[in-house]
Amino acid sequence: QSPPPSSSDSVYNSFLKCFSDRTKSSQTQNVFSQSNPSFSSVLRAYIRNARFNTSSTPKPTIIVTPRSESHVSAAVICSKPLNYVLKIRSGGHDYDGLSYISDKPFFILDLSNLRDVSVDIAENSAWISAGATLGEVYYRIWEKSRIHGFPAGVCPTVGVGGHLSGGGYDRKAMGEDLFWAISGGGGGSYGVVLGYKIKLVPVPETVTVFRVEKYINSGAVDFVYKWQFVGPKTDPNLFMRMLIQPVTRNKVKTVRATVVALFLGKADDVVSLLRKEFPELGLTKENCTEMTWFQSALWWDNRVNATQTDPKVFLDRNLDTSSFGKRKSDYVATEIPRKGIESLFKKMIELGKIGLVFNPYGGKVAEFAVNATPFPHRNKLFKIQYSVNWKDNTAEIEKGYLNEAKALYSFMTGFVSKNPRSAYLNYRDVDIGVNDHGANSYKEGEVYGRKYFGVNFDRLVKIKTAVDPGNFFRNEQSIPTLPIAK
Ligand code: FDA
Repeated sequence: QSPPPSSSDSVYNSFLKCFSDRTKSSQTQNVFSQSNPSFSSVLRAYIRNARFNTSSTPKPTIIVTPRSESHVSAAVICSKPLNYVLKIRSGGHDYDGLSYISDKPFFILDLSNLRDVSVDIAENSAWISAGATLGEVYYRIWEKSRIHGFPAGVCPTVGVGGHLSGGGYDRKAMGEDLFWAISGGGGGSYGVVLGYKIKLVPVPETVTVFRVEKYINSGAVDFVYKWQFVGPKTDPNLFMRMLIQPVTRNKVKTVRATVVALFLGKADDVVSLLRKEFPELGLTKENCTEMTWFQSALWWDNRVNATQTDPKVFLDRNLDTSSFGKRKSDYVATEIPRKGIESLFKKMIELGKIGLVFNPYGGKVAEFAVNATPFPHRNKLFKIQYSVNWKDNTAEIEKGYLNEAKALYSFMTGFVSKNPRSAYLNYRDVDIGVNDHGANSYKEGEVYGRKYFGVNFDRLVKIKTAVDPGNFFRNEQSIPTLPIAK
């Protein structure tokens, strides 16, 4: 699509001159060429999948780290004439690395310095900058109130920018269509999001968390089967996630099914609710721990002693730490039969390592129409995440785990949504299609776009065509423009 860029030195010099001119100051400290001694540490700081942190991983020609909004607009304007792909990175948690890799010459616009979080309890809201992390958002809310929260991801280092993929700086100026598109249509298709204004959610002073596990020989099949009928339909104050993992126990290969849950209320109430609705769980008060909502966020992050943990741990960005991993996703609209669960467990034992996470929908998610935001999966029972992580890597080991993920995905075909088989954008998966942004861009975009956005894909394409007809903001799975009629 673009002419081959000239040498990286001249690209750097012309970008730097443009950027310094526009921001009216020398900008060497915010623009990193490959020869800058800090280039590697700046790049690696927010790489969150070690598969894309190798010597053969393609590297950006320049990394720009804006410190103000005017730096962001200057970076976009100065990139355009150079014909490089501009990758936007907030927290860098894209599972397939699309915010910091490309097989085309590219720059990275790294927003990690734009991290203000400003909480207004009287207004029940907060402004959160794209480069803030979820841990910082939770912490800043906690600083001001014990009875407000915000429902978002478990992992505290996930970035606001990619995770929310929505919001908008000035809704009036951008218009309702563009605001709708960036409220779930994915980062990187429409522009750079600087921040979001979020509504805080009232939470009780005391919440309850619990974790209950079963193995095949202690009723895991019935446990998972029954969960499907309860998880998505129970009291909206209760969120019960199901983790399914093949393990070896007492030298026997088996499957462990674990319910991990948060109840916005007291232990007595959730125990009596689930005694009626989900006796297979066998929940007792001893399984439950009461705590504040903020402590529950620490607990979800695997901090067993959440009530004793220093809240400041959520301000730690844990730079340049990652394991190797792969994720895929699916949606379930009709409960999987009991026999299906049995065969699934068998398959997982046979494969050996890959696990599944079932996330129930219903509750608030189901209160809105499927076209209320670009996220179309509101009428599904639950979402499946396929998840495998590993530590020591070789090409062969990696291939083995990627094949495991594909094999389980293929096995699940009969149990999950069809036409299209749906997928969740935040569990980025390049296996479901990528875009080269050439002559077939629209057709290629339809393949992954309908899986991620279902009925909302066409509106996203129309908005994209209106606001970015030249397709400057693009990545391997961005929204394409409409094909030009011949
Ligand atoms: P990143 O910076 O990689 O961006 C993701 C995408 O959004 C890219 O396409 C990027 O270009 C674009 N983008 C980012 N900022 C933008 C901006 N300001 N404007 C426009 N486009 C922008 N999910 C979850 O729901 N719960 C969880 O607990 C976790 N945990 C988790 C752990 C780990 C280790 C990983 C790798 C991933 C997760 N995730 C997750 C998935 C996560 O929610 C998802 O990948 C988010 O998009 C990540 O947002 P970041 O800003 O960190 O990613």
